This record gives sequence, C-alpha cells and structure tokens, in this order.
Amino acid sequence: MLPESFLNELKYRCDVEQIIGSYVQLRRRGRNLTGLCPFHSEKTPSFTVYPENQSFYCFGCGAGGDIVTFIRRIENLDYMEAIRFLADRVGMQVPENDLDDGAHRLRMRILEINRESARFFHKALMSEAGREARAYLIGRGLGKPIIVRFGIGYAPPGWQNLTDHLTRLGYTPDELVAAGVANRGRSGGCYDVFRNRVIFPIIDLRGGVIGFGGRRLNDADNPKYVNTGENPVYKKGRNLYALNFAKNTKRQELLLAEGYMDVVAIHQGGFDNAIAGLGTALTSDQARLISGYTQSVVLCYDSDEAGQKATRKAVRLFDEVGVRTRILTITGAKDPDEFIKKFGSDRFQLLIQGSSSAAEFEIAKLRSQHDLETAEGRVAFLQGFVRLMAATPSPIEREVYISKICRELQIDKQAVSVQLEAALKKRQRNDQQRQDRELGTFAAQSPSARTDFEKQRHPREVLAEEGLIAYLLRSPDKAGWLASQVEPRQLVSPVDRDIYAALLQRLLAGQDADMMVLSAQLDEERMRKLSEILSRQDSVAVGDDAARDYIRVLTAAEKAKTIEEAGKLQDEEWKRYIASLNAGKK
Ligand code: CTP
Ligand code: MN
Repeated sequence: MLPESFLNELKYRCDVEQIIGSYVQLRRRGRNLTGLCPFHSEKTPSFTVYPENQSFYCFGCGAGGDIVTFIRRIENLDYMEAIRFLADRVGMQVPENDLDDGAHRLRMRILEINRESARFFHKALMSEAGREARAYLIGRGLGKPIIVRFGIGYAPPGWQNLTDHLTRLGYTPDELVAAGVANRGRSGGCYDVFRNRVIFPIIDLRGGVIGFGGRRLNDADNPKYVNTGENPVYKKGRNLYALNFAKNTKRQELLLAEGYMDVVAIHQGGFDNAIAGLGTALTSDQARLISGYTQSVVLCYDSDEAGQKATRKAVRLFDEVGVRTRILTITGAKDPDEFIKKFGSDRFQLLIQGSSSAAEFEIAKLRSQHDLETAEGRVAFLQGFVRLMAATPSPIEREVYISKICRELQIDKQAVSVQLEAALKKRQRNDQQRQDRELGTFAAQSPSARTDFEKQRHPREVLAEEGLIAYLLRSPDKAGWLASQVEPRQLVSPVDRDIYAALLQRLLAGQDADMMVLSAQLDEERMRKLSEILSRQDSVAVGDDAARDYIRVLTAAEKAKTIEEAGKLQDEEWKRYIASLNAGKK
C-alpha cells in the first residue's frame, strides 16, 4: 500500500479536468464538464467530469470512477502502473519500497525482453547472418535509413538463437513464453517463435516495444506472418503500427494502410503519417484512438476484395467517432507499397489528393456495375444510388451528388428527392431499432450488470444503500452516528457493502475519504459504482431525513431476512428457534 501522504499529494497535483481533458474534449456545463465518452461510441455527450469530487461518470455506458480508474481504463494499465503514469505526468516520484506488484513486474519484464529481442533482431539483420534478409528488403525497395528508423530486424533460422541470448541475460523460460518470443516445447524446454523472418517491432505511444510481426522471406511453405500473440503488454485491437511516428506528423490527416510493408514503404516515400492495424480488421478502439490525433483519415487498403470490405467497415467505425474518411483507389498496383515502387511517391501524393469520399467511391463502383445506356440499367443504378444517398449522413454531400448525377443522367431532381425522403425515413426506423437492440445487449454486458441484478431483486434496499453512501460522502461528520445505525453486513449488494465499509473505516479513523485514496482499496467495479452514486448526488442531495428513511428500509429488510431464513429451517431447528424466541420474551 502506498503512503497516504503520497496519494494525497498526487491527488492535489492531478488536475482531473486537465488530465481527462487531454483525452476527451470537454465542455463546461455549470460546475461540471461534459464530452463524448472515450469508452463507448456516442455522438451526443453523456460523459461527465465532476471536478469537485474529482470523478467522472458516463450516463451512456456507466463507466465511472476517479482519475486513477480513468487512466487504468484508457491506458490499459493496472493500478500501480496508473499511479506511476500519473506521478510521471505531474513530476512526482513513486515511493519504491513496494515492488511486490506481480502483474506490474511481469509487464516490465516483458517490455525489457521485447527491447532486448528487438536489439538482437536488428543486429542480426545488419550482421553477416542477415545477408539474405537484407537482400530481400533491398529487393523490396527499402533503404538503410528506413530500416534503421523502424528498427526492422531479422530472426535467423534455428530454434534457440534468441532463447539462448535472453537466457544468458537472465530471463527465465516462463518470462520468454509470457512475452511471446518463445514457445514451450514438448520436453519442457523453449524454442524461438520467430525463425528465418524479417521482424517488424511494434512500438507503443510511450516508446515501448510491445510485440513483433515476423514476415517470411521467399519461402512459400511457411505462414506469411507470425505475430506476437495477445499478452499483458500486447493488445492488437488497441494499438496501431507506426502511430508512435505518425502522431508527430505535421500533416492534417493520417493514412491508414493494411500492412507493415505498406506503412514502411509509405514512410520511406516521404509520408510520415502512415499507420496500420496489427493484422486484424480495424476495431472501434483503434478508431477512437485515431480520433484523438486527427479529424481525417485516408484509407489506403489493398485494392482487392478483402481490402474493399475492410474499407467499408473502417468507414463505418470512423463515422461513429466523428472522423472523416476518404478512400484511396489504387489502380495498376495491389497496395500502396507496390504502387509507390512502380509509380513513385509523387504519383502517390496525387492519388491522396484525388482520393474520394466514401460516397464517391461507392458511386463509381455502382456505375461500373450497371449499363447506363439502357433504361433498365439506369433504373437499377438510380435505385442503388438512392439507397447510397440515404446512408450518407451529410445533407450537403447528398445535395452535391444528387445534383451531379441528375445533371449527368438528365433526370428530374424532384423525382430523386422524393425517393430519397422515403429511403431516409425507412433507414431512420431501422437505425432506431438497431440502437435499441444494441443498448439492450450493452446493458447486459456492462460492469454494472451484477449490481443491476441485485437492484432488481431488492430495489428498495439497494436504493437505500446508495442513498446512505451518498449521505456519508456529503456528511462525513455523521459517520459515527450512521455506523451505530447500520452495519456494513446489513447492505444487500456486495458492491455497496464494500464501499460503505471502506468509507466508514476511513471516516471513523478520522481520515478523509476522497476518491484517490479509495481507489487504492476498491476495485474498478466499486469505483464505478461510487462515481455513479456521486453523479446522482450532484442533482439530489441526501439530507438527514432521507438518511433516516434509508436506515429504516435497511433495518426492516434485515428483519424480513431473518424471518425468511427461519422459514428455511428444518422442523427440529424450527422448534428450537421458537423456543429461543419464547425464552427471549421472558
Ligand atoms: N497478416 C497477418 N498474417 C498473415 C497475412 C497478413 O498477420 N498470414 C497481417 C499483417 O499484419 C500484414 C497485414 O495483415 O501486414 C496485411 O497483409 P498483406 O497485405 O498480405 O501483407 P503485407 O504487409 O502487405 O506484406 P507483403 O507486402 O510483404 O506481402
Ligand atoms: Mn503488401
């Protein structure tokens, strides 16, 4: 446990508004601030920051807690790491007497192993052993500067090269396996995961090597890529390749490509704003991450069917987080890497400049599917076009395309507009239904689901418990009195019980109960609940009278429970129970 003086100072130095404000664009609303929730997709702000009690709460998805909880979730860190992260930010030193934090230690070890491995691979590429791999990369048009900049390396053939090297440095087989650079063999030993492959180190926003993508050389027998699997430091759906470089670009937009080779080739071509996913389709986490750096993305996916499909999905995900997209249509090459190699980066620049919006891209596609010289072809095209326009959110954009197409096909704009109206209405209905469905499933998965379960079974009691917690937060001086009225074990929800107990414990000891200290004691779910209660208290304050009512609810509930339990007793016990009651009366 960290010293309280440290936590207090950390709390004092961490400006919640400023720290959360660096992830979420916040707008002041009275005493509080609101913005778009970084933990779920939304278009109207339901994320609220309460500077007074240094907490946040999202009315849309129920995420909530203090600043430590926030950092844990958004940076994907455990408690101690979040504390270190915050301390770093405000220039404080975390007292290091307490390093038994196992999870944190393992993550640090994995990061060290990765860094050592990256160094090993890069050295191998540049040494005699890397001759063939170097020839391969040169053959693909990469020069030394870009190879060095991206730290590209080579894993030599053989089963033990890296494993031996790291073992000599003192890392254990378990650690190597945890980092994903070695596999456990049948006989219990370890062997290298990456063998005879070009290695692309994946670096996170803080400069840590979190994993690797390994591409085969010219041997077509093995899988094309071997990638680090998910582990405590590597989450492929939450990181992006080369964002560590691209985040510093002076350009307005980011270029999102499909693969490592594309990104490296694009950077070498003079565009320092290219990134890629890590071997999976774009995720909503990644889209949100990107939205923190730019308002506009050019999708540079491969020109094949899979690339087109990925493009559509990306357009939708970016739309949800308010990032504009344009789509690069690559002709004469299958991907940006090949395009730049064939036609040069000036032509690539032109391609980017001419890249079209999602609607334009789809219109071009639709056009190629129909013969506009025939009447049927035109009707079919127009039907598709109207559907497409109904799916285009911007009215201005719709207006532009409708005018253009009507002019081109010489049709009455009015006729198309009527069709569009109908299509828009239908779409709205569908959207509403889909949203309702999604909200339904979302609620079932949310961390508050468990608490909600208790709320359904004992709605009055849970409400009363929450009321008492709110009361305690508002009137800490009443802790002694309240403790004499309601004991923690009387609370029906385990979450409430823990919060209540933690609050009482601190207040009775004469300590204050602010969020930062509590978050050392309570887990994420409890912190979430606490901030939910705080957010409600913001509108309805719990006074003495209300508190007395809540106490009555809980004591009554306890009596009922005792009787209910009595109902379950066996006959024998029942008789004894009655006897004891009678005895008590005397
Ligand atoms: N990928 C993967 N496993 C595979 C194939 C692809 O993980 N077997 C991922 C990699 O992250 C790769 C991306 O999907 O970078 C795109 O695939 P592809 O276009 O085939 O790879 P490139 O990086 O373009 O590689 P190259 O140009 O060398 O074929
Ligand atoms: Mn490629």
